[in-house]
Amino acid sequence: MIKPLPYIEKIQPYIPGKPIKEVERELGIKRCYKLASNENPLGPSPRVVEAIKDFLSTPEELARYPEGSGYYLKDALCEAFEKRGIKLTHDEIILGNGSNELIDIAVKTYIGPGDEAIMAKPSFIVYSMSVTSQGGIPKEVSLKDWKHDLEGMLKEVTDRTKIIFISNPNNPTGTMNDKTEFATFMEALPENILVIMDEAYYEYVTSSEYPNSLDYFLKGRDILILRTFSKAYGLASLRIGYGIGRKDIVKDMNRIREPFNTNTIAQIAAEAALKDEIHLKKVIELNEQGKKYLYSELNKISNIAYLPTETNFIYIKLPQGKSSKDAFEFLIKEGVIVRPVGPEEIRVTIGLPEENEAFISAFNKFLK
Ligand SMILES: Cc1ncc(COP(=O)(O)O)c(C=O)c1O
Repeated sequence: MIKPLPYIEKIQPYIPGKPIKEVERELGIKRCYKLASNENPLGPSPRVVEAIKDFLSTPEELARYPEGSGYYLKDALCEAFEKRGIKLTHDEIILGNGSNELIDIAVKTYIGPGDEAIMAKPSFIVYSMSVTSQGGIPKEVSLKDWKHDLEGMLKEVTDRTKIIFISNPNNPTGTMNDKTEFATFMEALPENILVIMDEAYYEYVTSSEYPNSLDYFLKGRDILILRTFSKAYGLASLRIGYGIGRKDIVKDMNRIREPFNTNTIAQIAAEAALKDEIHLKKVIELNEQGKKYLYSELNKISNIAYLPTETNFIYIKLPQGKSSKDAFEFLIKEGVIVRPVGPEEIRVTIGLPEENEAFISAFNKFLK
């Protein structure tokens, strides 16, 4: 019988949750709120819906392969960045079937068996999975003060290190490393190591100390900046994200990119989403309001701790003796799905006011 490669066997497959409708049916509850995957509770801009409807008015177009280079979306991205004073060209942008795919493409491009990549722990789980899938060695460095220990990560660099992943802000903690920390790190880092700056939650960041990773791209450093339309733009189901990097980096990644990796509807939707700045502002405002509400309610609970967030989710440490598994099981019966992210830690997505209230009410019941 055929066997997988030995390093593939080491990977724990992702276990998807049940569809919400199934959970509701099984538990006999009317309404279940999913606050487990950092999705946008407001959904995408109405302009996205219009653009998709418009596309579907000529259904024969569904029979055509997508525009493989993502020409129009890249144009829209160049325009959006130009508004912020950054000149980009199409060959400095790579589109992915979610930023997740871009992590995989970058790893396949630069990591071979025995090569090393450094990442934080806990951080986005896909980094280590992807590295392992190529026979590479993921070296995980524990967070320090709940942030990436950039100094500690530098100490792990060897002559086999190819990539360093930085999730900024970090999933699952919602914390970020600031400008100064990042500048010190970049100064000390050997120039031939690729920094993958994963900025999936970029649009939600409010801190003025957030590093401008594009500066390092403009200086010609080995950096790949990843952003996504899955979070603040509300397009998680369509799977589309983008990377910005030097032309040679994009060119090398394009060598192995599946030619039609992003679908037509996703490209059209992302283009429309980018152009609706008013909707994006609404999304951020809603998140800020939800954050304030959750902070104020969590502050009333004496025996838990939570981390202030730069994202659309909050990392909560449960009281001693309470497990995240128990919390998950209790909360789901109350109609709220959260994500256990450690033995005593849960991550909750900031939702609509009624979702946040449902979480707080169920969470208080659990803690009693
Ligand atoms: C830190 C981080 N990076 C990347 C992703 C992947 O996003 P997508 O593939 O939907 O663009 C996520 C999704 O949760 C994330 O949290």
